[in-house]
Amino acid sequence: QAMRLWGGRFAGGPSEALARLSLSTHFDWRLARHDIEGSRAHARVLRSAGLLEQDELTRMLEGLDRLEADVASGAFTPVLADEDVHTALERGFIERVGPELGGRLRAGRSRNDQIATLVRMYLREEARAIAAQVLDLVTALADQAEANIGVAMPGRTHLQHAQPVLLAHHLMAHAWPLVRDVDRLRDWDRRADASAYGSGALAGSSLGLDPEAVAADLGFSRSVENSIDGTAARDVVAEFGFVTAMIGVDLSRFAEEIILWATKEFSFVTLDDAFSTGSSIMPQKKNPDIAELARGKAGRLIGDLAGLLATLKGLPLAYNRDLQEDKEPVFDAVDNLTVLLPAFTGMVATLVFNSGRMAELAPQGFSLATDIAEWLVRNRVPFREAHEIAGACVRVCEERGIDLPELTDEDFASISPQLTPRVREVLTVSGSLESRSAKGGTAPVRVAEQLAGLRAAVAAH
Ligand code: ARG
Repeated sequence: QAMRLWGGRFAGGPSEALARLSLSTHFDWRLARHDIEGSRAHARVLRSAGLLEQDELTRMLEGLDRLEADVASGAFTPVLADEDVHTALERGFIERVGPELGGRLRAGRSRNDQIATLVRMYLREEARAIAAQVLDLVTALADQAEANIGVAMPGRTHLQHAQPVLLAHHLMAHAWPLVRDVDRLRDWDRRADASAYGSGALAGSSLGLDPEAVAADLGFSRSVENSIDGTAARDVVAEFGFVTAMIGVDLSRFAEEIILWATKEFSFVTLDDAFSTGSSIMPQKKNPDIAELARGKAGRLIGDLAGLLATLKGLPLAYNRDLQEDKEPVFDAVDNLTVLLPAFTGMVATLVFNSGRMAELAPQGFSLATDIAEWLVRNRVPFREAHEIAGACVRVCEERGIDLPELTDEDFASISPQLTPRVREVLTVSGSLESRSAKGGTAPVRVAEQLAGLRAAVAAH
């Protein structure tokens, strides 16, 4: 029953070692549904070209329906000799409609244009599902921003206290890259939206089959411009790999902060029991495993992309068997993101922020020093000088072990005559936040506008 697609010029069958090496059904079987859909479109275009009678087309489509049902139920599965998903399904098709009719389906089509098309069909579907999952996470971030809208926290650069910011502002700084990732998936889809059917093995088809008709049948808006490019290019797969790796990296940067925030030392957040794990030996432990898995999987997603690019870099045109290695990396990326994103979203949605602790730390570490300098600039002091004066305030505080608001009017006056007691209006967290009121800043009014903008961006997708 083993049936290769290329037996004619060979005296004997392949060695078992070759068959085992060559086999791809353990991963490309997930494309079976798309392969059958492609076969339906191909059968219709064979009929349009006059290569099938109407009743032959009808019997073919019935056979494909039965095959699809048997694949879905598990009644039909690949065997070792099948080599790949296309070979297995052709065997199943011939078993159902007989060799005479079954042998007509492959005309004008190669596994090379098939696989290039099926991968696009599959990835376009997965891209939509991943985009929806990413948008769920963005919504969870927007909800947390809204629920904690007035909470201040220490904003950091170099992980050192820098300037106070609103927690909502910080959370939305994690949301916007994810919105851009969804944009990237949409934008990628415009380039993936071209069918390679009709490219044949590499040179195109001679049988009068219309590639545009097949493309439309399969939900593509167009077919490829060049049959060699259609069968050889995998930039569309690599670009998908980049976007999934970027999503992984964006999650990982947020994950790293959650891991820090959940430490005793930070005590910024408490993780919900349902989204954290315990230790098998230490009864007190509550671990941020979801965040750690996100950080870990980011490395894996980067590896998927790097491996794929390495596979592609030396390949001459057109199809080479190396290209079979394009699928596992992106399948791995899809599988990992698909389990990671809902867990990550659940963790974010249930984070409980310790707003008292965050607000208490917000002005510490001299994070209002910039506000002193900018207050001086508003009073016409050159910034270079203002920076020096504010720096002197910090030095005095450090010597005495106090913080900026604790400096007396006399202290200020002795540091610089420009420092009148009115400088205190910016020496509070709320004064500092409100002063950063240009577009994109952390002032409460701007952050409220930003939240509305973020919600609108989610709704627009
Ligand atoms: N399974 C192959 C792949 O994934 C497609 C088959 C093309 N094989 C060939 N010998 N031309 O790329």
